[in-house]
Amino acid sequence: MQKITALAKRRGFIYPGSEIYGGLANTYDYGPVGIELLRNIKNLWWEFFVHRRDDIVGIESSLISHQEIWKASGHTAGFADALIDCRNCKLRMRADHLIEDSLEGKNVEGLSTEEFDQIIQENSITCPNCGKVEWTKVRKFNLLFPVNLGIVEGDQSLAYLRGETAQGMFVNFKNVLDSTRVKLPFGIAQLGKSFRNEITPGNSVFRTLEFEQGEIEFFFDPEVSDWERLFEDWKKEMWKFATIELGIDEKNLRWRVHSDEERSFYSKRTEDLEYNFPFGFKELWGLAYRTDYDLSQHEKGSGKELRSVDSSNGKKILPHVIEPAVGINRLFLMVLADSYREEDGRVYLSIDPKLAPYKAAVFPLLGNKPELIGKAREIYEILRKEFLAVFDDRGNIGKRYLYQDEIGTPFCVTVDFESLEDEKVTVRHRDTMEQERVSISELLSYIRNKV
Ligand code: GAP
Repeated sequence: MQKITALAKRRGFIYPGSEIYGGLANTYDYGPVGIELLRNIKNLWWEFFVHRRDDIVGIESSLISHQEIWKASGHTAGFADALIDCRNCKLRMRADHLIEDSLEGKNVEGLSTEEFDQIIQENSITCPNCGKVEWTKVRKFNLLFPVNLGIVEGDQSLAYLRGETAQGMFVNFKNVLDSTRVKLPFGIAQLGKSFRNEITPGNSVFRTLEFEQGEIEFFFDPEVSDWERLFEDWKKEMWKFATIELGIDEKNLRWRVHSDEERSFYSKRTEDLEYNFPFGFKELWGLAYRTDYDLSQHEKGSGKELRSVDSSNGKKILPHVIEPAVGINRLFLMVLADSYREEDGRVYLSIDPKLAPYKAAVFPLLGNKPELIGKAREIYEILRKEFLAVFDDRGNIGKRYLYQDEIGTPFCVTVDFESLEDEKVTVRHRDTMEQERVSISELLSYIRNKV
């Protein structure tokens, strides 16, 4: 993990947030290559789940949202972490993380604060920072970020930064139904920021205060569609996206079924797709059958009817929902971890070419020969019309390869003196370091086919 975070900083994937002011815990900024990778992942997600399907439409809802949304959804009352403080060194951490890290194999999902206290006491769990056993009682802290709107103080001006994108789909369910041609079963998708006031153990962008989610609420009539079949279909789609679209090694992925205690009371089944991060198998993507809980809560909360009408018989239906919910930043971290390679002292990222920040880098063999630079620039201009490429004439060719390997550029194209004679360039492959001569007239289609 240290190697990955060092590379991410060194090469401009991720920087610590507010760094020159000493940093702001659990916030990160994406650098020039990081943002390209992040966007490629987001675009692929949108293309796969929205554009390539006839039964899913997208929306983008406001980040600042009415407090009643979060009351109805249950977040203001129940969306909380159980935290504990060390009286000696002032370390604050999540009680579930403290117990699970100290007592291997112990699952504490769904336990009360009193039960947390009891386990910590009975096992004399020490502070991972100072080694003392001087804990406060476990207390619950709500994860929602409140925002005060306008200049009027008091309850009227309270709103929340959204804690998940999902609620945007529920509160717009009727809008989408009334303004488009969708009919059950169909999904509403959204890709965007969510905010949670989390205490985290600091595994880079795995868990942050501000993160991006890709969520789909797939609505269906439970009397017509078999939820168990839909659930299995969604599992296949998620698996396909991770393995085929993102190119992740299947060995590093697994499903984990939530136990009865762990599952939310309204969910009939929840499974997590987990990835084997350098710090262990952890949740990447949740899949939950949430029944009609959310829509019925918003019907009660808003007093508005949120039902779909079956045009064949006029029957009103309160749809049920299956929800695949993923953290885009976790997909990003997974792609970095899964593609990181060290071979004979060489470091490279074996990222799927379609995700790589730059598809090709173009070099003149020497940086001080105008005829080579001119030809290399011509080639660069041809390539960049179709995909993101980069031109580099700094330093020697070895250093340029080193840099491109570490940011996962699949092809390096070098223009040498022979190129001026035979109109061919050397294409070097990132993973194998093999080199081949390709004619300039075929270069674009050559790279296009591989990307
Ligand atoms: N609507 C359901 C929902 O939000 P969740 O399990 O709380 O479910 C879904 O979040 C996904 O969002 C997680 O599987 C994870 O990938 C990502 N996620 C949640 N909290 C996060 C955080 N603090 N930082 C980064 N990603 C997070």
